[in-house]
Amino acid sequence: MFANNIAYNLTMQKTPLWYKDAIFYELYIRAFNDSDGDGHGDIRGVIEKLDYLQDLGINCIWLLPMFPSPLKDDGYDVADFYNIHPDYGTLHDFKELVDEAHKRSIRVIADLVLNHTSDQHPWFQEARKGPDNPKHDFYVWSDTQEKYQDARIIFLDTEDSNWSWDEEAKRYFWHRFYSSQPDLNYDNPEVQEAMLHVAKFWLDLGIDGFRCDAIPYLIEREGTNCENLPETHLYLKKLRRFVDEHAADSILLSEANQWPEDVREYFGDGDEMHMAFHFPVMPRLFMAMRKEDTTPIREIIERTPEIPQNAQWCTFLRNHDELTLEMVTEEERQWMWEQYAPEPRMRQNLGIRRRLAPLLDNDFNKIVLANSLLFTLPGSPIVYYGDEIGMGDNIWLKDRDGVRTPMQWNASPQAGFSSNAEPYSPVNNEVPYDPAHVNVEDQMRDLASLYYVTKNMIAVRKTHRAFGWGTFEWANSSHPTQVAAYYRRHEGEELLILNNLSGESIDLWVEIPERQLFFPPPNLFTGRATGELVDGRLHVKLASHGYEWLKLT
Ligand code: GLC
Repeated sequence: MFANNIAYNLTMQKTPLWYKDAIFYELYIRAFNDSDGDGHGDIRGVIEKLDYLQDLGINCIWLLPMFPSPLKDDGYDVADFYNIHPDYGTLHDFKELVDEAHKRSIRVIADLVLNHTSDQHPWFQEARKGPDNPKHDFYVWSDTQEKYQDARIIFLDTEDSNWSWDEEAKRYFWHRFYSSQPDLNYDNPEVQEAMLHVAKFWLDLGIDGFRCDAIPYLIEREGTNCENLPETHLYLKKLRRFVDEHAADSILLSEANQWPEDVREYFGDGDEMHMAFHFPVMPRLFMAMRKEDTTPIREIIERTPEIPQNAQWCTFLRNHDELTLEMVTEEERQWMWEQYAPEPRMRQNLGIRRRLAPLLDNDFNKIVLANSLLFTLPGSPIVYYGDEIGMGDNIWLKDRDGVRTPMQWNASPQAGFSSNAEPYSPVNNEVPYDPAHVNVEDQMRDLASLYYVTKNMIAVRKTHRAFGWGTFEWANSSHPTQVAAYYRRHEGEELLILNNLSGESIDLWVEIPERQLFFPPPNLFTGRATGELVDGRLHVKLASHGYEWLKLT
């Protein structure tokens, strides 16, 4: 094991800013692969599938919470920060997963749930004994429900207040999510230290960083909306210093579902979070595709500030939560619901609980186009498990369970996920998303499958640093509304990306500024010259929902 670590250190650890052009894969251990037939995916099951992930080309796995938990919020309700949920395996298994991933040049980051714990956590069990208990001040208490009235409720479908009464403490406790997830009190230095200690434990086990859950809500202050407060940033800077000291190449990825100017603050001066999800761009990709109009993407990119050189955005199409519509206007939200969630069951809180393929009508070209946008816009992309093969959702399951069904490996009834006839969640059996129609094994045999398109996009992206490091500039074209056409440039490399959002084929003319092109540019996938040059303009025929990635240099 030790020898492997040395090899890993030489090959991977010394890559500074690796996250600038990493390709992430979000994976829910319970849903991925069940190695022991108990119906729950487990860590050994993930180890068995590392070759698959390496072959797909991703180079960083993000694991959803794997800690002991009553699972009222699928593990985001942590009952013990220092162990592995028994359904998933042991700490030893986890260490092996990290080592085996590293051998394949895949990094591993995991969720760090800073804002709250489960009410089953021993800290809360102590805290509720009353104000005299030393742990009481680990949480946020009040004798009334009056405080912090300007803080919104996030889980609107289930919670009607951010305060809940605790019968034992005879006081109200503060929670931004489910009432079974009391918020930790970051005004208490002991809490701050305790969570640094948690981070250290996992870094010492060898992981490469954290996806930091729900960070805007760490601190509460009267008269504010209790989000993005200066004291919250101070703590995150402290966490960054701590991580830099203990594991310099590890990253902090921020889950701050906020407007770009507010998320920008989480990068600090390059001394806070390394990465941040770009939440507002995501719904706008769906908006733009349905409207066949680039305007929503243009507007949000326009509104996105510059970030420090050592920081990076994280882009995604879907994840384990609802497709959140918090970062759109009320009017846009209604429109998105009408378009993408026509049935009430498809809606959740302020979002849409559906997967990528069904959202895009299971239309192959549209799914591929969405991926073309994901892999070429600024930021490092994340693929959500199963979206690389176009898995469907199950809107009949509660909460967000419908987008967390078992990974479909083959066409068998349990999709090759488990030998158990009753897995933790039913396999999606709805045609055309059932295992007989959607599974890894079949798609690996078919060079025209979504799996292969995704794999190729990843491979091509990895060979061009302009995607991760480059600047972004819109290109002048004959169809600025229907076609998202832009340049990505880095150190002398210049790429031109064309995405036809419309359902019609388009004769596109693109101005090629300041560059004398003598030959039509090669397509990055095939190397074939594409289009024709006429008077310094490039003429390309784009198929309906077609895309081109071209190399101008
Ligand atoms: C984040 C997670 C979500 C979870 C919530 C509370 O938003 O993505 O799944 O329910 O935090 O921890």
